[in-house]
Amino acid sequence: MTNKQDHNHAKIAAARDFISANLPIVPVPSIPEIRLHKAGPQSGLWRLAEQDQEFGSPYWAHHWGGGLVLARYLLDRPDAVAGRRVLDLGAGSGIVGIAAAKAGAAEVIAADVDPYAIAATGLNAAINGMTVLPVLTDLTTGEPPATDIICVGDLFYEAALAERVTSFLDPCLARGIKVLIGDPWRAYLPQSRLRLLAEYAVPDFGTTTSSRPSGVFAFETQNAPAKPRR
Ligand SMILES: C[S@@+](CC[C@H](N)C(=O)[O-])C[C@H]1O[C@@H](n2cnc3c(N)ncnc32)[C@H](O)[C@@H]1O
Repeated sequence: MTNKQDHNHAKIAAARDFISANLPIVPVPSIPEIRLHKAGPQSGLWRLAEQDQEFGSPYWAHHWGGGLVLARYLLDRPDAVAGRRVLDLGAGSGIVGIAAAKAGAAEVIAADVDPYAIAATGLNAAINGMTVLPVLTDLTTGEPPATDIICVGDLFYEAALAERVTSFLDPCLARGIKVLIGDPWRAYLPQSRLRLLAEYAVPDFGTTTSSRPSGVFAFETQNAPAKPRR
């Protein structure tokens, strides 16, 4: 094992201990089938930031509209993933992968670049009695993975990330992988490439009381520009 792998293993183990001790397990708004560790006023996430210079935004400790709407969709329409291999890209808390597993996916891999998300996903899958394999890696830099369906919950919140994810998804589509996206219509959502499958009103980050319309989309191949007629 390399030093980097050792370092990541130790960080994931410490993150697991912190999350178990400090983030209460709570029901998820709009998804009563799933409970997750979620940051609360007493969680003291600032302590992680103080201890760990690499500590980033704790996306994994919160609910996001994109993940909520996609999880709701998978639970309502299990046929979308039942019996298929699913990759949850940018898993965060793992909510989408957990919903896919509950819907009967044959295998669920949950990828994230944040070791804290990997720890949270493992714990959250376990408390929901589901098997999800969390992997710490940036798949967007590589070849299309061995999967049938890629689920993308709320990854279009920054221009550079949206561009990176879209560039990764195109060759995946070309390999015949289906792509489902959940998103509350954020600024960098590639709307021209999407077909709306369903819409639900779900809470977004920072609120549990108000909801906003959020969509589940199929990501589709870019239409070639029409050839001029002769
Ligand atoms: C807004 S959160 C959404 C989390 C979850 N999908 C949901 O909807 O609740 C975005 C997540 O994407 C992860 N992420 C960002 N860039 C990534 C990349 N290149 N590959 C994998 N995950 C990434 C972040 O670490 C974060 O956990």
